[in-house]
Amino acid sequence: MAVSKLLLGFLVVTLSGFSVTSVSSEFSIREATVRDIRIAFEQNKLTSRKLVEFYLNEIRRLNPVLRSVIEVNPDALYLADKADRERKAKAPVSKSWLHGIPILLKDNIATKDKLNTTAGSYALLGSVVPRDAGVAAKLRKAGAIILGKASLSEWANFRSSNPSNGWCARGGQTVCPYVKSADPCGSSTGSAISVAANMAAVSLGTETDGSIICPSSFNSVVGFKPTVGLTSRGGVVPISPRQDTVGPICRTVSDAVYVLDAIVGYDRYDAVATRKASSYIPHGGYVQFLKADGLKGKRLGITKDPYFGFPNKSEISQLFEQSFHKLRQGGAILVDRLEIPNLEAVIPILEGDQQIALLAEFKLALNAYLKDLVTSPVRSLADVIAFNKKFSDLEKLHKYDQDTFLQAEKTNGIGQLEKKALRNLTRASKLGFENLMRKNKLDAWVTPLTSGAPVLAVGGYPAINVPAGYDDSGVPYGISFGGLRGSEPKLIEIAYSFEQATKFRKPPSFKP
Ligand SMILES: *[C@@H]1O[C@H](CO)[C@@H](O)[C@H](O)[C@H]1NC(C)=O
Ligand SMILES: *[C@@H]1O[C@H](CO)[C@@H](O)[C@H](O)[C@H]1NC(C)=O
Ligand SMILES: *[C@@H]1O[C@H](CO)[C@@H](O)[C@H](O)[C@H]1NC(C)=O
Repeated sequence: MAVSKLLLGFLVVTLSGFSVTSVSSEFSIREATVRDIRIAFEQNKLTSRKLVEFYLNEIRRLNPVLRSVIEVNPDALYLADKADRERKAKAPVSKSWLHGIPILLKDNIATKDKLNTTAGSYALLGSVVPRDAGVAAKLRKAGAIILGKASLSEWANFRSSNPSNGWCARGGQTVCPYVKSADPCGSSTGSAISVAANMAAVSLGTETDGSIICPSSFNSVVGFKPTVGLTSRGGVVPISPRQDTVGPICRTVSDAVYVLDAIVGYDRYDAVATRKASSYIPHGGYVQFLKADGLKGKRLGITKDPYFGFPNKSEISQLFEQSFHKLRQGGAILVDRLEIPNLEAVIPILEGDQQIALLAEFKLALNAYLKDLVTSPVRSLADVIAFNKKFSDLEKLHKYDQDTFLQAEKTNGIGQLEKKALRNLTRASKLGFENLMRKNKLDAWVTPLTSGAPVLAVGGYPAINVPAGYDDSGVPYGISFGGLRGSEPKLIEIAYSFEQATKFRKPPSFKP
């Protein structure tokens, strides 16, 4: 779906009243990286208050058009002043990379503050969470400023089989800042758009199947989907604990890595998965893998269609020719036209069996999340379905429906069918992706846009999307590097080196 849409050739629709004001002076907040901001702090050229004021202003100016932010934190300026005082006093926390840096969180990530956590739905408005999500708590500990909640495809795209990407009842329809009529993809749409348009320094999204990689590709930003369990899902409105993961969406690979460093690790509210994945965290963290020559000697696999490859001689492949050239130039070995044995057994499973598993897992996980809330208008999936029916105008039920919810509600735990589906998924990962990676001694698997998402989803594998260009209509597209569980260090080396060699990303600008 994503691929054909890219090639349709969208018209660039200009937005009236949308003008880019440039920030003069030697330091520009627009497009500033975490590193730029840290240097400006140190040189007393910038305060967190100035930074927050800039982003709040940009949200006020751009959000009526882009609709990527659902709520701003009423305490953001207070938190900025606190960070400025800490920096002045040289408090230990002020040494952290994210100290004083404003971050937007996707609206399915709980915060125990004045912000609501609703997954974009009115059904959760007024609910009170018991505590910060594990990742939000880690961000606060690192001194980051939670700026607000970013919009998303409602319920992370699990309400309807025919949703509108980037739409939720509370936020409305988000808009791609590059081409207004283009598909902004989902479900972490608001996070991707907000950083693309400089409405925040950095952001967090979540992915179950494509929800970080796809909107990052379609809005020309870097999206990092960590190995499942590397980041805590505690306090995140769930779809499936087997597939859900929380990760950074930022303008640059290095920004994403600074955020990743702050959010990885053990959390007692996602104890089993985070303890297990903690063994992947390298001593000294991930920043050490930001190497400009990180492509050198890396074996990058490219698969033949229909295993999510680059269709030969097609327009899609042409769009990536420059990227391939740069990968080779950087010293990577492209292992091309790889095939998967037992393809017939692998492909259907990724859709059919995945959905069987997700439907049952969603009901269990959502009911547990809702039960854990301090207060809430809804306490079960059945309540949410009833809410949507009762307030169908508010939730635009006629238009976007809730057929996926209804299917999920019919499930009854992990029964025989689900067990078979789960076994199939494990087998598909072993025979498919793991076999492909090991047999060819690959460091990463390269895919266009979001096409590898289902493979990476069912195996809990990590991936990074990096901007790779713009088509004739100005619609952005990205390239994705996926790997085996725990292979984040290699993926960072590859993604960072590719980004430094290409610098494809351009900030969005609308002509009046
Ligand atoms: C959270 O939702 C309530 C309505 O229940 C609203 O009054 C409040 O302003 C919201 N918080 C923020 C920060 O927007
Ligand atoms: C695919 O593309 C490569 C490189 O352009 C070419 O050598 C090869 O013959 C093509 N294969 C098919 C089946 O078209
Ligand atoms: C699992 O795989 C088998 C064999 O490929 C297939 O017949 C079956 O439909 C799949 N799914 C389930 C839920 O059993």
